[in-house]
Amino acid sequence: MTSHDARLRDTCALVTGAARGIGAATAELFHAHGATVYLCDVDDDLGNSVAAKLGARAHYRHLDVTDAADWSRVTAEMADRGHPLRILVNSAGAASKASIMDTSLAELRRMIDLNLVGTFLGLQAAGAAMTAGGSVVNLSSLRGVLATAELGAYGASKFGVRALTRVAALEFAEKNIRVNAVCPGSIDTAITAGAGFADDDMDAYVKSIPMQRRGLPLEVAKAILFLAGEESSYVTGTDLMIDGGSSAGARTPKLSSS
Ligand SMILES: NC(=O)c1ccc[n+]([C@@H]2O[C@H](COP(=O)([O-])OP(=O)(O)OC[C@H]3O[C@@H](n4cnc5c(N)ncnc54)[C@H](O)[C@@H]3O)[C@@H](O)[C@H]2O)c1
Repeated sequence: MTSHDARLRDTCALVTGAARGIGAATAELFHAHGATVYLCDVDDDLGNSVAAKLGARAHYRHLDVTDAADWSRVTAEMADRGHPLRILVNSAGAASKASIMDTSLAELRRMIDLNLVGTFLGLQAAGAAMTAGGSVVNLSSLRGVLATAELGAYGASKFGVRALTRVAALEFAEKNIRVNAVCPGSIDTAITAGAGFADDDMDAYVKSIPMQRRGLPLEVAKAILFLAGEESSYVTGTDLMIDGGSSAGARTPKLSSS
């Protein structure tokens, strides 16, 4: 990449959930585009190793997104070090799968706390720290757009992320802070190693995707880069689907040839 192509030169970004998956791919892409990146996660070993591989301009910090004090500590440190927050990507999250009747209250609360409260605290931190304007990208999901059986707790958190995204866009516009969401379909990461996904028929699921494949973390990161940077300077309060066509509508069933 030439310096001319570096879209985030002289910009400071904080990416949560940056130890792996979509967050790690986003941090790496931002870094390649010249940003100073604070990679934040609760998996300190993995997060440190991702940051170490990137080298200069990459800093790992422990930040539990559900902990307001962690947000204050890291954003204050960024300001102190001359790295004021300009881009925030709220990628930390987890998924779990169970019917409403089989979802414990503790599990519902865990999903809401991590995926929704974590995003809320990130928005509050951005609203306070982005004194010169900025851009926030939240990770919602296809499951935050299309209700999906057995993804009640996860879906509720991700529908909520879209609501918070739009409200924040309205409230932060006068601060010159844009707020958008991406809604990935099935992306090939470790997130489905979580509770409830072991019995899924992945082949059948992939056949239901119009593009007939799962997405890659980098394909989401590229969309996040667009929303984070100047190329989307008049875009706020929107959701960008990154789902291989899954939310576009239904395909016509083929008649059996027999
Ligand atoms: N992978 C998909 O198919 C998919 C689809 C739609 C939306 N998403 C969303 O994208 C985001 C990233 O998902 P992924 O697939 O990269 O998942 P992942 O499981 O690979 O990565 C999630 C990261 O979040 C971190 N994390 C967990 N709890 C945390 C906390 N309290 N504070 C800080 N970090 C924490 C984990 O340590 C991990 O590094 C999530 O919000 C997820 O809901 C993923």
